[in-house]
Amino acid sequence: MKKMVVLTGAGISAESGISTFRDSGGLWEGHDVMEVASPEGWRKNSELVLNFYNQRRKKALEVKPNNAHLILAEMEKYFDVTIITQNVDDLHEQGGSSKVIHLHGELFKSRSTLDPELVYDIEGWEIKLGDKCEKGSQLRPHIVWFGEMVPMMELAVEETLTAEIFLVVGTSLQVYPAAGLLDYVEKDVPKFVVDPNMPTMIPLDNLFLIKEKATEGMEQVKKQLLENYL
Ligand code: APR
Repeated sequence: MKKMVVLTGAGISAESGISTFRDSGGLWEGHDVMEVASPEGWRKNSELVLNFYNQRRKKALEVKPNNAHLILAEMEKYFDVTIITQNVDDLHEQGGSSKVIHLHGELFKSRSTLDPELVYDIEGWEIKLGDKCEKGSQLRPHIVWFGEMVPMMELAVEETLTAEIFLVVGTSLQVYPAAGLLDYVEKDVPKFVVDPNMPTMIPLDNLFLIKEKATEGMEQVKKQLLENYL
């Protein structure tokens, strides 16, 4: 089986009802991103940050994977698929994908503020002030905030270096280091980009642009893959 690596962003969850970042004018539920997604914001007002992610978690519990998530899961019948996602929702897992690398963390997990190795599943939708880890420190969202390290990047680069097919679905490619993954794709590897608005920075070699929403665009990609790349 050929190795397929897929980089996804907020656009793949848009048709499930989760708004993207840049389509919402750069504000997140009316908040400045540094207020609710940075260590400074956490230090300034932890309760505001906890509530911001509680609201996103509550919303994420109400939505379902869409056709694009389902097609990517179906591709596991034909290819060795690794999903590298910038999304913190669990729609890839719900859709049936079995190998998902979350570059920016996971909405349904919490983490100790004392020991980052202590990560917990969140039952329900809330982390509250006073919720503590086993070492007695406040729990925080298991999310990579702006200015923080991206621990899964090394694994993502390793996977990308050995990709034989590379897909980019629903990301503006404006946030690094995630967007930098494209630099690690071999020149002769076919690259499929699915996005109704073409991202500014896209690879030039062996490129197939599908200017469609993910649910439709992934149907076209599936057809091409099964016809020409098995
Ligand atoms: N189908 C496919 N793509 C879509 C759809 C859709 N239905 N709707 C929008 N898009 C595209 C947009 O054209 C855009 O290129 O999805 C992309 C969304 O881009 P962003 O909102 O910038 O989201 P993303 O690229 O995932 O952002 C990366 O930035 O804000 C941080 O940490 C956050 O993980 C996020 C990162």
